[in-house]
Amino acid sequence: MTKKTVTLIDDSTGREIKLDVLEPTAGPPTIDVRPLYKALGYFTYDPGYVSTASCASTITYMDGEQGVLQYRGYPIEQLAEHSSYLETCYLLYYGRLPTAAELDTFIDTINQHTMVHEALKRFYSGFRRDAHPMAIMMGVVGALSAFYHEHMNIHDPHDREIVAHQLIAKMPTIAAWSYRYAKGLPFMYPRAKLSYAEDFLHMMFANPTAPYTPDPKFAKALDLILILHADHEQNASTSTVRLSGSSEANPFAAVAAGIATLWGPAHGGANEAVIRMLQEINESGKPIEHYVERAKDKNDRFRLMGFGHRVYKTYDPRARIIRKICHDILDSETDGEHQKLLDTAMKLEEIALNDPYFQQRNLYPNVDFYSGVIFVAMGIPLNMFTVLFAMARTIGWISQWNEMMSDEKSRIGRPRQLYVGEATRDYVPISQR
Ligand code: CMC
Repeated sequence: MTKKTVTLIDDSTGREIKLDVLEPTAGPPTIDVRPLYKALGYFTYDPGYVSTASCASTITYMDGEQGVLQYRGYPIEQLAEHSSYLETCYLLYYGRLPTAAELDTFIDTINQHTMVHEALKRFYSGFRRDAHPMAIMMGVVGALSAFYHEHMNIHDPHDREIVAHQLIAKMPTIAAWSYRYAKGLPFMYPRAKLSYAEDFLHMMFANPTAPYTPDPKFAKALDLILILHADHEQNASTSTVRLSGSSEANPFAAVAAGIATLWGPAHGGANEAVIRMLQEINESGKPIEHYVERAKDKNDRFRLMGFGHRVYKTYDPRARIIRKICHDILDSETDGEHQKLLDTAMKLEEIALNDPYFQQRNLYPNVDFYSGVIFVAMGIPLNMFTVLFAMARTIGWISQWNEMMSDEKSRIGRPRQLYVGEATRDYVPISQR
């Protein structure tokens, strides 16, 4: 097959360059602009990375026009139906589905790492009780770098695998403890007998004084939500982990940077913002249309949270799956409060999807639009929603970091810029300014 190229002609000088076109397994062909600067002296300009592939990856594929999401080639719908979160973690990290024996060994390994160093518990008491749990999680995960640094060789695949196991295993413990700390409740230790999702619910809601059995319906829904959030190719937080990891930084510190990025309401923080928005709509007594009009008003900073996506220009496939679980969970719910949130979300979706503003801009519900409704029904407090997202996304971050570290050709990430500041000028002594 002949190699595809594109030719870029500099209209002012007539000089030209042939650039290779890299062919993906799926998705748009990608122009390799690496020789451009040396050959013609140009940078490319793409703030927000709208047309830029920041790396090559074999992990996750998404097609924003068709609403496709695949992990290692497997459609998200099939994984949601048949897989478990830990099996999905194995798939994302190792690149293939495990055999039954491999999965058992993997689960055992994860169970061996769920405890955190006792000294780490003291970090929690340094935080105010009303600190946001994302701030606590970011701090505690960053602090893991102090516990695992000297003896870790990030260039050794085995050491990287241990980091991955530690992070997958410890995240639920760290996450649940940030909630327990805020509530002044004793920290519950992880239990190997429980599934990943059950153990998280146990560490969140059990008390040492009484037996606790996690609700199987909630554990199943949580496991599914974790699968749906596990990876999403080069999103802002994943790109952050790759960029900080590219300097050969400690991986726990790089993941803490990913948590910081995820926290923002334009990214993972949207799940919390959605519920705040739905509650405000319900409490205000104002019609939903009032909020839709506000979202369209360019002089108002209000946006419909849980709507729109940089890549998906159609219904987010994850939102479709979560929307269905919402019904499954709430059908057996008697608490009208949760049902009311779901009703408002569905009405809001219907009004927005029939509005030309949202239609013309291809704005559809994203993964965060319905996930919060399920979390509320589970009794998860609002400020823990993004923490759950971080817990789920950890496998994506660490798989992407491992992929980058395994690539011998990896270089430090170092974007350039279009400088539009002052031209050279002479320093003016203070007395003459
Ligand atoms: N409500 C109202 N208008 C919107 C919204 C919204 N939620 N999202 C985008 N728009 C408009 C935006 O004003 C712009 O209009 P115009 O062309 O007239 O200027 C147009 O749609 C394109 O928006 P953009 O901001 O240029 O798009 P982006 O790709 O830079 O941003 C986004 C994507 C997800 C940040 C944005 O849609 C948004 O802020 N959504 C609400 C927050 C949210 O739900 N975030 C979760 C994303 S999915 C999970 C995750 O990534 O973690």
